[in-house]
Amino acid sequence: MTVRRKILTVFGTRPEAIKLFPLIHALADDTRFESRVCISAQHREMLDQVLDIAEVVPDHDLDLMTPGQTLDSLTARALVEIGKVLDDERPDWVVVQGDTTTVMAGAIAAYYRKIPVCHVEAGLRSGDIHHPWPEEVNRRIVGSFAALHCAPTDTARNALLRENVDPATVHVTGNTVIDALHWVAKRVECVPELASGLADLEARFANKRIIGMTSHRRENFGDGMQNIANAVKCIASRNDIAVIFPVHLNPNVRAVMNEQLAGLDNVALIEPLDYPHFARLLDISYLMLTDSGGVQEEAPALGKPVLVMRETTERPEGVEAGTAMLVGTDADAIVHETNRLLDDEAAYAAMARAHNPFGDGRSATRIADLLASA
Ligand code: UD1
Ligand code: UDP
Repeated sequence: MTVRRKILTVFGTRPEAIKLFPLIHALADDTRFESRVCISAQHREMLDQVLDIAEVVPDHDLDLMTPGQTLDSLTARALVEIGKVLDDERPDWVVVQGDTTTVMAGAIAAYYRKIPVCHVEAGLRSGDIHHPWPEEVNRRIVGSFAALHCAPTDTARNALLRENVDPATVHVTGNTVIDALHWVAKRVECVPELASGLADLEARFANKRIIGMTSHRRENFGDGMQNIANAVKCIASRNDIAVIFPVHLNPNVRAVMNEQLAGLDNVALIEPLDYPHFARLLDISYLMLTDSGGVQEEAPALGKPVLVMRETTERPEGVEAGTAMLVGTDADAIVHETNRLLDDEAAYAAMARAHNPFGDGRSATRIADLLASA
């Protein structure tokens, strides 16, 4: 009888859950593995939204989130509590995804026990330790000792090779976010009600072009967020557009956005959407305004122009393809580029082309095969 490999997948936030559920599904269906799941619950409601739709039931829920948590207290608690789960489970591999505090702490806890780490979405680099902050350093830390690096693209692979990572451990797998998008599209095809909750807003804004928006980066807290809010206020003075903005639950984001944008007729500040509804928002949007990492991958895949409100990006593929543009957090620049896309058909058409550098929707099975043979 062959011994099944025990894989412990550790994650804590919404984007990690979205990008890991396809792999968790693949591992669960595969007799080569015994799959276990640990969530730090660094996020609570926003994480649970994904677990519910993807029907992932964690074996360990550390329930770590506290309101307005600081980086150091979250890191300390995650390191200690994930360590206890590792001592209990003693997995053959630990899988982490991306660049959050949970990823960094989970990987270090595994390293302290000499358990090999598989890093999904490895090799993303902006080259600036303060943008995004602290994510750029989190992923560099994990990249310095992971035993298996699943790079989404050749660009990411090359970044790891430049850091002298052993090429034999680096594999281009695509990004599992495309698997997640495909999965949710199929689910909604079978059960359209899963994404019908925006109908009232869609009717209210029927004669306007929709701008889908998200914003939450820590490095933008303060002036950056204020600039972003000012830009949206200015854009919303047009009567031919409406902004739909599911506001992240981070209190630093909500305070600014509620204060600046509540009450504007054509700005809908709404609660975070579950994944089928967010996919619907992408679908109905004329363009996206965002500082999110994941949205920079999803929007190009769907041919939606995306203006990235950040100074740098670790996802240059969308920019190179022409579907994404870095606009920074200067209010005038955000307003100028948004108006250009709204008023200049040729500029819009040049960006609105489906381009999919991030994968073919089969990344999860590739990663499972790597885990089976590594
Ligand atoms: C975290 C990640 C960031 C990722 C983002 C995805 C770190 C340091 N940051 O940022 O890389 O891009 O998640 O969204 O790992 N909150 C809730 N309910 C939730 C989620 C958050 O109330 O479901 C509130 C809490 O007050 C919490 C705060 O948001 O303390 C901040 O959460 P945290 O995970 O520390 O930071 P994010 O800004 O969400
Ligand atoms: N997303 C979602 N609901 C929302 C906003 C975003 O499901 O209301 C999804 C989005 O499709 C993407 C992911 O969350 O897959 C991005 O998460 P976030 O922007 O919080 O984090 P980042 O990607 O910047 O780390």
